[in-house]
Amino acid sequence: MIPTEEKKGMEFHEAVRRRRTVREFADRPVPEEALRRVLAAGLRAPCNAHLKSWQFILLRDLERRDQAVVEKLKARDMKGGEEIERFVGRFEEEELKKVYRRSLPRQQSMMLEAPELLLVCYRMKPLSEVRTLFELNPLASVWMCIENIMLALAAEELFGCTYTPYESRGLKEFLGVPVGWEIAAVIPFGYPREEPGENEAEDLDARLHVDGWN
Ligand SMILES: Cc1cc2nc3c(=O)[nH]c(=O)nc-3n(C[C@H](O)[C@H](O)[C@H](O)COP(=O)(O)O)c2cc1C
Repeated sequence: MIPTEEKKGMEFHEAVRRRRTVREFADRPVPEEALRRVLAAGLRAPCNAHLKSWQFILLRDLERRDQAVVEKLKARDMKGGEEIERFVGRFEEEELKKVYRRSLPRQQSMMLEAPELLLVCYRMKPLSEVRTLFELNPLASVWMCIENIMLALAAEELFGCTYTPYESRGLKEFLGVPVGWEIAAVIPFGYPREEPGENEAEDLDARLHVDGWN
């Protein structure tokens, strides 16, 4: 028999196409069953060494969430056009400037306003002890888990944003994250305030090489 979790949601390629980063949410709660299906999909991701050393934290208490986001993570919205333009001035690509103009005013508010705020944690040795790219496999693996989560969200018509903390020591301490664990991403999610639209397909042929980089 097909397990119920696999009968739910849209077809795979449709979910891949639909997934978008969303930073503004409708005032509508996320059904608990959908949330559990999404996190279960995350735990089905492949990982190095087979350990799946991942843990999830949901920040639901709004006072605690506020403290975590504002005081500990120090996430802030860039409001002034001038500050934003100064920031985007360092980039040449118009597409990149557009992304930052859209995202910089929402870095704090997306997390405070989202119906759910999820932290994805993973176990990893200190960066100071990492000598090879191979040793970064725990980081690679947790992002497979995160991508499963983002696609499973899209399959439920839910959307969010993967925010990567620049500095997470204070936040880890505040939340009681054990030593040896890191926060890979902070993910606000919910139903979108507006229809997110779809990304244009990339030109595959410009990126595909056979038998060498030609
Ligand atoms: C590793 C990673 C880190 C990201 N960090 C942030 C972030 O800190 N803040 C943010 O608003 N978006 C962040 N994003 C979302 C990207 O801006 C977004 O995925 C990108 O602009 C492409 O848009 P799309 O997801 O709608 O296709 C991150 C995405 C990834 C994969």
